[in-house]
Amino acid sequence: MINTDRRSVGIIGLGYVGLPLLYTFHQAGLKVTGFDVDASKIEAINSGKTYIKHFSDAQIVELSSSDRCEVTTDFSYLKNVDSILICVPTPLDHHREPDMSYVVQTTETIGKYLREGQLVILESTTYPGTTDELLKGILEKASGLEEGKDFYLAYSPEREDPGNPDFNTKSIPKVVGSASQKGRELAVALYEQALDQVVPVSSAKVAESAKLLENIFRSVNIALVNEMKLVMDAMDIDIHEVINAAATKPFGFMKFTPGPGLGGHCIPIDPFYLTWKAREFGLNTRFIELAGEVNSAMPDYVVSKTMLALNEKGKALKNSKILILGIAYKPNVDDMRESPSFVIMDRLESLGVEIEYFDPWIPIIPSSREHMNWKGKISIEWNEESIKSFDAVVIVTDHKNVEYTELKNWVDCIVDTRNVYPELSEADKEKIYKA
Ligand SMILES: NC(=O)c1ccc[n+]([C@@H]2O[C@H](COP(=O)([O-])OP(=O)(O)OC[C@H]3O[C@@H](n4cnc5c(N)ncnc54)[C@H](O)[C@@H]3O)[C@@H](O)[C@H]2O)c1
Repeated sequence: MINTDRRSVGIIGLGYVGLPLLYTFHQAGLKVTGFDVDASKIEAINSGKTYIKHFSDAQIVELSSSDRCEVTTDFSYLKNVDSILICVPTPLDHHREPDMSYVVQTTETIGKYLREGQLVILESTTYPGTTDELLKGILEKASGLEEGKDFYLAYSPEREDPGNPDFNTKSIPKVVGSASQKGRELAVALYEQALDQVVPVSSAKVAESAKLLENIFRSVNIALVNEMKLVMDAMDIDIHEVINAAATKPFGFMKFTPGPGLGGHCIPIDPFYLTWKAREFGLNTRFIELAGEVNSAMPDYVVSKTMLALNEKGKALKNSKILILGIAYKPNVDDMRESPSFVIMDRLESLGVEIEYFDPWIPIIPSSREHMNWKGKISIEWNEESIKSFDAVVIVTDHKNVEYTELKNWVDCIVDTRNVYPELSEADKEKIYKA
Protein backbone atom coordinates (compact mmCIF):
# COMPACT_ATOMS: atom_id res chain seq x y z
CA MET A 1 0.00 0.00 0.00
CA ILE A 2 1.46 3.33 -1.07
CA ASN A 3 1.23 6.15 1.43
CA THR A 4 -0.83 9.06 0.00
CA ASP A 5 0.03 11.35 2.89
CA ARG A 6 3.00 13.17 1.38
CA ARG A 7 4.63 15.40 3.97
CA SER A 8 8.19 15.67 2.65
CA VAL A 9 9.18 17.20 -0.67
CA GLY A 10 12.53 17.36 -2.42
CA ILE A 11 12.97 20.13 -5.00
CA ILE A 12 15.80 19.87 -7.53
CA GLY A 13 16.99 23.16 -9.05
CA LEU A 14 16.70 26.17 -6.75
CA GLY A 15 16.43 28.92 -9.37
CA TYR A 16 13.63 31.33 -10.25
CA VAL A 17 11.10 28.47 -10.14
CA GLY A 18 12.46 26.02 -7.57
CA LEU A 19 13.23 28.49 -4.77
CA PRO A 20 9.71 30.03 -4.56
CA LEU A 21 8.27 26.51 -4.81
CA LEU A 22 10.41 25.33 -1.90
CA TYR A 23 9.24 28.35 0.09
CA THR A 24 5.57 27.72 -0.74
CA PHE A 25 5.67 24.07 0.37
CA HIS A 26 7.53 25.08 3.52
CA GLN A 27 4.94 27.73 4.34
CA ALA A 28 2.26 25.07 3.99
CA GLY A 29 3.92 23.12 6.82
CA LEU A 30 5.69 20.41 4.78
CA LYS A 31 9.23 19.23 5.35
CA VAL A 32 11.30 20.46 2.39
CA THR A 33 14.72 19.56 1.02
CA GLY A 34 16.25 21.70 -1.74
CA PHE A 35 18.89 20.27 -4.10
CA ASP A 36 21.17 22.13 -6.49
CA VAL A 37 24.47 21.40 -8.22
CA ASP A 38 25.43 25.06 -7.68
CA ALA A 39 27.10 25.10 -4.25
CA SER A 40 27.02 28.93 -4.14
CA LYS A 41 23.19 28.84 -4.00
CA ILE A 42 23.24 26.34 -1.12
CA GLU A 43 25.78 28.51 0.74
CA ALA A 44 23.71 31.63 0.13
CA ILE A 45 20.54 30.04 1.55
CA ASN A 46 22.39 28.63 4.56
CA SER A 47 23.84 32.06 5.31
CA GLY A 48 20.44 33.76 4.97
CA LYS A 49 21.26 35.68 1.78
CA THR A 50 19.06 35.86 -1.28
CA TYR A 51 20.36 35.54 -4.85
CA ILE A 52 17.09 36.49 -6.55
CA LYS A 53 16.24 40.14 -6.05
CA HIS A 54 12.45 39.81 -5.80
CA PHE A 55 12.86 36.99 -3.24
CA SER A 56 13.81 38.67 0.04
CA ASP A 57 16.56 37.91 2.57
CA ALA A 58 13.75 37.58 5.15
CA GLN A 59 12.16 34.76 3.13
CA ILE A 60 15.54 33.02 2.86
CA VAL A 61 16.05 33.35 6.62
CA GLU A 62 12.63 31.75 7.18
CA LEU A 63 13.97 28.75 5.29
CA SER A 64 17.51 28.66 6.68
CA SER A 65 16.34 28.94 10.30
CA SER A 66 13.67 26.26 10.03
CA ASP A 67 14.09 22.68 11.22
CA ARG A 68 11.72 21.65 8.41
CA CYS A 69 14.06 22.90 5.66
CA GLU A 70 17.36 21.58 4.46
CA VAL A 71 19.31 22.49 1.31
CA THR A 72 22.16 20.47 -0.10
CA THR A 73 24.33 19.45 -3.04
CA ASP A 74 24.24 15.85 -1.73
CA PHE A 75 21.65 14.04 -3.83
CA SER A 76 21.73 10.89 -1.65
CA TYR A 77 19.22 12.77 0.56
CA LEU A 78 16.69 12.12 -2.21
CA LYS A 79 16.03 8.80 -0.48
CA ASN A 80 14.48 10.63 2.47
CA VAL A 81 11.67 12.46 0.67
CA ASP A 82 8.20 11.26 -0.42
CA SER A 83 8.03 13.38 -3.56
CA ILE A 84 10.70 14.77 -5.90
CA LEU A 85 10.04 17.86 -8.03
CA ILE A 86 12.37 18.71 -10.94
CA CYS A 87 12.86 22.43 -11.74
CA VAL A 88 16.06 22.47 -13.82
CA PRO A 89 16.67 24.53 -17.00
CA THR A 90 15.34 23.51 -20.43
CA PRO A 91 17.10 25.87 -22.86
CA LEU A 92 17.72 25.53 -26.61
CA ASP A 93 21.07 24.32 -27.92
CA HIS A 94 23.19 26.04 -30.59
CA HIS A 95 20.91 24.59 -33.31
CA ARG A 96 17.85 25.98 -31.52
CA GLU A 97 16.76 22.48 -30.59
CA PRO A 98 15.74 21.30 -27.07
CA ASP A 99 18.71 20.93 -24.75
CA MET A 100 17.50 18.16 -22.44
CA SER A 101 20.90 17.60 -20.83
CA TYR A 102 19.92 19.15 -17.46
CA VAL A 103 16.73 17.09 -17.26
CA VAL A 104 18.49 13.90 -18.33
CA GLN A 105 21.34 14.35 -15.87
CA THR A 106 18.93 15.08 -13.01
CA THR A 107 16.73 12.10 -13.88
CA GLU A 108 19.76 9.80 -13.96
CA THR A 109 20.72 11.04 -10.49
CA ILE A 110 17.17 10.47 -9.18
CA GLY A 111 17.26 6.96 -10.71
CA LYS A 112 20.27 6.10 -8.53
CA TYR A 113 18.38 6.83 -5.32
CA LEU A 114 14.77 6.09 -6.30
CA ARG A 115 12.90 3.87 -3.84
CA GLU A 116 9.47 2.26 -3.79
CA GLY A 117 6.51 4.56 -3.26
CA GLN A 118 8.21 7.77 -4.38
CA LEU A 119 6.48 10.27 -6.65
CA VAL A 120 8.59 12.13 -9.24
CA ILE A 121 7.16 15.24 -10.90
CA LEU A 122 8.78 17.15 -13.75
CA GLU A 123 8.04 20.90 -13.64
CA SER A 124 10.50 22.14 -16.29
CA THR A 125 8.87 23.31 -19.52
CA THR A 126 9.28 20.71 -22.25
CA TYR A 127 7.88 18.97 -25.36
CA PRO A 128 4.87 16.61 -25.14
CA GLY A 129 6.02 13.10 -24.29
CA THR A 130 9.08 13.98 -22.19
CA THR A 131 7.68 12.54 -18.96
CA ASP A 132 6.29 9.30 -20.40
CA GLU A 133 9.01 8.66 -22.97
CA LEU A 134 12.26 10.11 -21.65
CA LEU A 135 11.96 10.22 -17.84
CA LYS A 136 10.13 6.93 -17.42
CA GLY A 137 12.77 4.97 -19.38
CA ILE A 138 15.72 6.52 -17.53
CA LEU A 139 14.17 5.99 -14.08
CA GLU A 140 13.06 2.40 -14.71
CA LYS A 141 16.43 1.43 -16.15
CA ALA A 142 18.48 3.04 -13.37
CA SER A 143 16.32 1.81 -10.48
CA GLY A 144 14.93 -1.52 -11.69
CA LEU A 145 11.53 -0.29 -10.43
CA GLU A 146 8.34 -0.10 -12.49
CA GLU A 147 6.47 3.14 -13.06
CA GLY A 148 2.78 3.09 -12.07
CA LYS A 149 3.43 0.16 -9.74
CA ASP A 150 6.60 0.76 -7.68
CA PHE A 151 6.95 4.50 -8.17
CA TYR A 152 4.88 7.26 -9.80
CA LEU A 153 5.56 9.88 -12.39
CA ALA A 154 3.69 13.09 -13.21
CA TYR A 155 4.14 16.39 -15.02
CA SER A 156 3.04 19.76 -13.69
CA PRO A 157 4.05 22.89 -15.58
CA GLU A 158 5.42 25.86 -13.71
CA ARG A 159 3.58 29.14 -14.33
CA GLU A 160 5.71 31.32 -12.05
CA ASP A 161 5.71 34.96 -13.17
CA PRO A 162 8.59 36.60 -11.28
CA GLY A 163 7.87 40.12 -10.12
CA ASN A 164 4.10 39.85 -10.73
CA PRO A 165 2.48 41.59 -7.72
CA ASP A 166 -0.95 39.99 -8.33
CA PHE A 167 -0.03 36.30 -8.46
CA ASN A 168 2.46 34.03 -6.69
CA THR A 169 3.31 30.32 -6.67
CA LYS A 170 0.50 29.61 -4.19
CA SER A 171 -2.27 31.48 -5.99
CA ILE A 172 -1.53 30.41 -9.59
CA PRO A 173 -3.67 27.35 -10.52
CA LYS A 174 -1.52 24.25 -11.06
CA VAL A 175 -2.19 21.85 -13.94
CA VAL A 176 -1.23 18.23 -13.18
CA GLY A 177 -1.14 15.20 -15.48
CA SER A 178 0.14 11.64 -15.22
CA ALA A 179 0.03 8.45 -17.27
CA SER A 180 -1.39 6.56 -14.27
CA GLN A 181 -4.49 7.26 -12.23
CA LYS A 182 -2.52 6.72 -9.02
CA GLY A 183 0.26 9.09 -10.15
CA ARG A 184 -2.29 11.82 -10.81
CA GLU A 185 -4.05 11.27 -7.47
CA LEU A 186 -0.76 11.47 -5.57
CA ALA A 187 0.41 14.57 -7.40
CA VAL A 188 -2.93 16.34 -6.91
CA ALA A 189 -2.90 15.43 -3.21
CA LEU A 190 0.63 16.79 -2.87
CA TYR A 191 -0.05 20.17 -4.50
CA GLU A 192 -3.41 20.58 -2.75
CA GLN A 193 -1.55 20.78 0.55
CA ALA A 194 0.23 23.96 -0.52
CA LEU A 195 -1.57 25.60 -3.47
CA ASP A 196 -4.97 27.26 -3.81
CA GLN A 197 -6.14 25.42 -6.93
CA VAL A 198 -5.03 22.21 -8.65
CA VAL A 199 -6.31 21.34 -12.15
CA PRO A 200 -5.97 17.61 -12.94
CA VAL A 201 -5.79 16.61 -16.63
CA SER A 202 -5.89 13.16 -18.20
CA SER A 203 -2.18 12.72 -19.00
CA ALA A 204 1.30 14.16 -18.64
CA LYS A 205 1.24 14.91 -22.39
CA VAL A 206 -1.83 17.15 -22.01
CA ALA A 207 -0.14 19.04 -19.16
CA GLU A 208 3.10 19.42 -21.17
CA SER A 209 1.16 20.67 -24.21
CA ALA A 210 -0.99 23.09 -22.18
CA LYS A 211 2.14 24.88 -20.96
CA LEU A 212 3.47 25.17 -24.51
CA LEU A 213 0.13 26.48 -25.78
CA GLU A 214 0.15 29.20 -23.10
CA ASN A 215 3.56 30.44 -24.17
CA ILE A 216 2.98 30.04 -27.93
CA PHE A 217 -0.21 32.08 -27.47
CA ARG A 218 1.88 34.88 -25.95
CA SER A 219 4.62 34.69 -28.56
CA VAL A 220 2.16 34.81 -31.49
CA ASN A 221 0.15 37.68 -30.02
CA ILE A 222 3.26 39.69 -29.19
CA ALA A 223 4.42 39.17 -32.78
CA LEU A 224 1.04 40.42 -34.00
CA VAL A 225 1.25 43.70 -32.06
CA ASN A 226 4.92 44.08 -33.01
CA GLU A 227 4.01 43.79 -36.69
CA MET A 228 1.09 46.15 -36.16
CA LYS A 229 3.52 48.61 -34.55
CA LEU A 230 5.66 48.75 -37.71
CA VAL A 231 2.59 49.41 -39.87
CA MET A 232 1.17 52.04 -37.49
CA ASP A 233 4.55 53.76 -37.28
CA ALA A 234 4.75 54.06 -41.08
CA MET A 235 1.23 55.57 -41.03
CA ASP A 236 2.14 57.93 -38.18
CA ILE A 237 -0.49 56.38 -35.88
CA ASP A 238 0.30 55.74 -32.19
CA ILE A 239 0.12 51.94 -31.72
CA HIS A 240 -0.38 52.28 -27.97
CA GLU A 241 -3.42 54.49 -28.40
CA VAL A 242 -4.77 51.98 -30.91
CA ILE A 243 -4.26 49.05 -28.52
CA ASN A 244 -5.81 50.90 -25.58
CA ALA A 245 -8.83 51.77 -27.71
CA ALA A 246 -9.22 48.15 -28.89
CA ALA A 247 -8.85 46.92 -25.29
CA THR A 248 -12.06 48.72 -24.27
CA LYS A 249 -13.93 45.92 -26.06
CA PRO A 250 -15.17 43.83 -23.13
CA PHE A 251 -14.98 40.48 -24.97
CA GLY A 252 -12.96 38.81 -27.74
CA PHE A 253 -9.85 40.97 -27.36
CA MET A 254 -6.85 40.55 -25.06
CA LYS A 255 -4.30 43.31 -24.67
CA PHE A 256 -0.69 42.62 -25.69
CA THR A 257 1.99 45.29 -25.77
CA PRO A 258 4.70 45.68 -28.43
CA GLY A 259 8.33 45.96 -27.40
CA PRO A 260 11.99 45.76 -28.45
CA GLY A 261 11.88 41.95 -28.90
CA LEU A 262 11.19 38.90 -26.81
CA GLY A 263 13.16 38.06 -23.69
CA GLY A 264 13.22 35.71 -20.75
CA HIS A 265 13.72 32.01 -20.34
CA CYS A 266 10.23 31.08 -21.63
CA ILE A 267 8.57 32.91 -24.53
CA PRO A 268 11.55 33.02 -26.96
CA ILE A 269 12.40 29.37 -26.26
CA ASP A 270 9.46 27.17 -25.31
CA PRO A 271 7.54 27.39 -28.63
CA PHE A 272 10.50 25.76 -30.40
CA TYR A 273 10.17 22.68 -28.18
CA LEU A 274 6.89 22.00 -29.99
CA THR A 275 8.39 22.85 -33.38
CA TRP A 276 11.07 20.23 -32.76
CA LYS A 277 8.63 17.54 -31.63
CA ALA A 278 6.17 18.33 -34.48
CA ARG A 279 8.91 17.52 -37.02
CA GLU A 280 8.86 13.92 -35.78
CA PHE A 281 5.24 13.81 -37.06
CA GLY A 282 6.14 15.46 -40.40
CA LEU A 283 4.43 18.70 -39.35
CA ASN A 284 5.56 22.33 -39.60
CA THR A 285 4.59 24.89 -36.97
CA ARG A 286 4.20 27.91 -39.23
CA PHE A 287 2.60 30.28 -36.71
CA ILE A 288 5.43 29.61 -34.24
CA GLU A 289 8.16 30.18 -36.81
CA LEU A 290 6.56 33.32 -38.22
CA ALA A 291 6.09 34.77 -34.72
CA GLY A 292 9.75 33.96 -34.01
CA GLU A 293 10.82 35.76 -37.19
CA VAL A 294 8.76 38.89 -36.48
CA ASN A 295 9.82 39.08 -32.83
CA SER A 296 13.49 38.48 -33.48
CA ALA A 297 13.53 41.30 -36.07
CA MET A 298 12.50 43.86 -33.42
CA PRO A 299 15.99 44.64 -32.06
CA ASP A 300 17.05 45.61 -35.62
CA TYR A 301 14.03 47.90 -35.83
CA VAL A 302 15.15 49.57 -32.57
CA VAL A 303 18.68 50.00 -33.96
CA SER A 304 17.36 51.59 -37.17
CA LYS A 305 15.10 53.93 -35.16
CA THR A 306 18.09 54.91 -33.03
CA MET A 307 20.08 55.66 -36.18
CA LEU A 308 17.24 57.85 -37.51
CA ALA A 309 16.87 59.64 -34.17
CA LEU A 310 20.58 60.49 -34.09
CA ASN A 311 20.40 61.53 -37.73
CA GLU A 312 17.79 64.14 -36.78
CA LYS A 313 20.35 65.54 -34.35
CA GLY A 314 22.94 65.67 -37.13
CA LYS A 315 24.87 62.73 -35.69
CA ALA A 316 25.90 59.31 -36.97
CA LEU A 317 25.79 56.04 -35.05
CA LYS A 318 29.51 55.53 -35.61
CA ASN A 319 31.55 56.96 -32.72
CA SER A 320 28.40 58.00 -30.85
CA LYS A 321 27.96 57.22 -27.15
CA ILE A 322 24.71 55.45 -26.30
CA LEU A 323 23.19 54.47 -22.96
CA ILE A 324 21.04 51.33 -22.83
CA LEU A 325 18.47 51.82 -20.09
CA GLY A 326 17.53 48.43 -18.68
CA ILE A 327 19.04 45.08 -19.51
CA ALA A 328 16.59 42.87 -17.58
CA TYR A 329 14.17 41.25 -20.02
CA LYS A 330 11.16 42.72 -18.19
CA PRO A 331 10.56 45.42 -15.58
CA ASN A 332 11.39 45.09 -11.90
CA VAL A 333 13.31 41.80 -12.04
CA ASP A 334 17.02 41.00 -12.16
CA ASP A 335 16.64 38.30 -14.85
CA MET A 336 18.48 39.14 -18.08
CA ARG A 337 18.19 35.78 -19.85
CA GLU A 338 17.53 36.17 -23.60
CA SER A 339 17.06 39.91 -23.07
CA PRO A 340 16.77 41.88 -26.34
CA SER A 341 19.07 44.49 -24.76
CA PHE A 342 22.05 42.28 -25.55
CA VAL A 343 21.12 41.91 -29.21
CA ILE A 344 20.69 45.68 -29.45
CA MET A 345 24.02 46.27 -27.67
CA ASP A 346 25.83 43.79 -29.94
CA ARG A 347 24.38 45.40 -33.09
CA LEU A 348 25.17 48.95 -31.97
CA GLU A 349 28.68 48.02 -30.91
CA SER A 350 29.35 46.39 -34.28
CA LEU A 351 28.34 49.72 -35.88
CA GLY A 352 31.02 51.58 -33.94
CA VAL A 353 28.93 52.80 -30.99
CA GLU A 354 30.39 53.20 -27.51
CA ILE A 355 27.90 51.45 -25.18
CA GLU A 356 27.15 51.86 -21.49
CA TYR A 357 24.14 50.63 -19.56
CA PHE A 358 22.09 51.59 -16.53
CA ASP A 359 19.95 49.04 -14.70
CA PRO A 360 19.08 49.48 -11.02
CA TRP A 361 18.30 45.74 -10.81
CA ILE A 362 21.54 44.52 -12.40
CA PRO A 363 24.55 46.48 -11.04
CA ILE A 364 27.03 44.23 -12.87
CA ILE A 365 26.52 41.82 -15.77
CA PRO A 366 27.11 38.38 -14.28
CA SER A 367 28.57 35.33 -15.91
CA SER A 368 25.92 33.38 -17.81
CA ARG A 369 25.50 30.84 -20.58
CA GLU A 370 25.02 33.74 -23.03
CA HIS A 371 26.46 37.26 -23.49
CA MET A 372 29.94 36.43 -22.20
CA ASN A 373 31.23 39.44 -24.18
CA TRP A 374 29.40 41.78 -21.74
CA LYS A 375 30.32 39.89 -18.56
CA GLY A 376 31.64 42.13 -15.76
CA LYS A 377 30.36 45.39 -17.28
CA ILE A 378 29.10 47.74 -14.58
CA SER A 379 25.92 49.85 -14.59
CA ILE A 380 26.80 53.55 -14.73
CA GLU A 381 25.96 56.04 -11.96
CA TRP A 382 22.62 57.82 -12.27
CA ASN A 383 23.47 61.52 -12.15
CA GLU A 384 23.07 64.49 -14.44
CA GLU A 385 26.70 64.76 -15.43
CA SER A 386 27.01 61.13 -16.39
CA ILE A 387 23.64 60.87 -18.22
CA LYS A 388 24.18 64.14 -20.10
CA SER A 389 27.35 62.76 -21.66
CA PHE A 390 25.38 60.39 -23.94
CA ASP A 391 24.33 61.18 -27.49
CA ALA A 392 21.25 59.00 -27.08
CA VAL A 393 19.49 56.84 -24.49
CA VAL A 394 17.59 53.73 -25.59
CA ILE A 395 14.94 52.62 -23.07
CA VAL A 396 14.75 48.84 -23.41
CA THR A 397 13.32 47.90 -19.98
CA ASP A 398 10.70 50.04 -18.23
CA HIS A 399 11.77 49.49 -14.61
CA LYS A 400 9.63 51.42 -12.13
CA ASN A 401 12.48 52.80 -10.01
CA VAL A 402 13.96 55.04 -12.72
CA GLU A 403 13.49 58.84 -12.84
CA TYR A 404 12.15 59.20 -16.38
CA THR A 405 11.33 62.88 -15.89
CA GLU A 406 14.93 63.60 -14.92
CA LEU A 407 16.09 61.64 -17.94
CA LYS A 408 13.91 63.76 -20.22
CA ASN A 409 15.40 66.93 -18.77
CA TRP A 410 18.97 65.74 -19.11
CA VAL A 411 19.20 64.34 -22.67
CA ASP A 412 17.87 65.47 -26.02
CA CYS A 413 17.64 62.10 -27.78
CA ILE A 414 15.64 59.24 -26.19
CA VAL A 415 14.50 56.14 -28.03
CA ASP A 416 11.47 54.80 -26.14
CA THR A 417 10.69 51.14 -26.93
CA ARG A 418 8.32 50.72 -23.96
CA ASN A 419 6.00 53.71 -24.16
CA VAL A 420 7.46 55.11 -20.96
CA TYR A 421 6.35 58.53 -22.22
CA PRO A 422 2.77 57.87 -23.38
CA GLU A 423 1.90 61.48 -24.15
CA LEU A 424 4.35 63.77 -25.89
CA SER A 425 4.22 67.58 -25.89
CA GLU A 426 5.51 69.41 -28.97
CA ALA A 427 8.81 69.94 -27.12
CA ASP A 428 8.97 66.23 -26.21
CA LYS A 429 8.54 65.28 -29.85
CA GLU A 430 11.84 67.01 -30.57
CA LYS A 431 13.70 64.57 -28.32
CA ILE A 432 11.64 61.40 -27.72
CA TYR A 433 11.39 58.84 -30.51
CA LYS A 434 9.03 55.87 -30.14
CA ALA A 435 10.44 52.58 -31.38
N1 LIG B 1 11.83 31.60 -14.74
C1 LIG B 1 10.53 31.55 -15.00
O1 LIG B 1 9.86 32.54 -14.86
C2 LIG B 1 9.85 30.26 -15.46
C3 LIG B 1 8.46 30.26 -15.57
C4 LIG B 1 7.82 29.10 -15.96
C5 LIG B 1 8.56 27.95 -16.25
N2 LIG B 1 9.93 27.99 -16.16
C6 LIG B 1 10.65 26.75 -16.45
O2 LIG B 1 11.14 26.22 -15.23
C7 LIG B 1 12.40 25.55 -15.45
C8 LIG B 1 13.46 26.15 -14.53
O3 LIG B 1 13.63 27.51 -14.86
P1 LIG B 1 14.30 28.56 -13.88
O4 LIG B 1 13.97 29.89 -14.43
O5 LIG B 1 13.99 28.27 -12.46
O6 LIG B 1 15.85 28.23 -14.15
P2 LIG B 1 17.13 28.73 -13.29
O7 LIG B 1 18.28 28.68 -14.20
O8 LIG B 1 16.78 29.99 -12.56
O9 LIG B 1 17.27 27.60 -12.18
C9 LIG B 1 17.63 26.29 -12.47
C10 LIG B 1 18.45 25.74 -11.32
O10 LIG B 1 18.75 24.38 -11.60
C11 LIG B 1 20.07 24.13 -11.19
N3 LIG B 1 20.55 22.94 -11.89
C12 LIG B 1 21.00 22.82 -13.15
N4 LIG B 1 21.33 21.55 -13.42
C13 LIG B 1 21.05 20.85 -12.30
C14 LIG B 1 21.17 19.47 -11.95
N5 LIG B 1 21.61 18.58 -12.83
N6 LIG B 1 20.81 19.10 -10.71
C15 LIG B 1 20.36 20.02 -9.83
N7 LIG B 1 20.22 21.33 -10.10
C16 LIG B 1 20.55 21.73 -11.32
C17 LIG B 1 20.83 25.39 -11.51
O11 LIG B 1 22.02 25.50 -10.76
C18 LIG B 1 19.80 26.45 -11.13
O12 LIG B 1 19.92 26.83 -9.77
C19 LIG B 1 12.70 25.72 -16.94
O13 LIG B 1 12.22 24.61 -17.63
C20 LIG B 1 11.87 26.94 -17.32
O14 LIG B 1 11.52 26.93 -18.68
C21 LIG B 1 10.58 29.12 -15.75
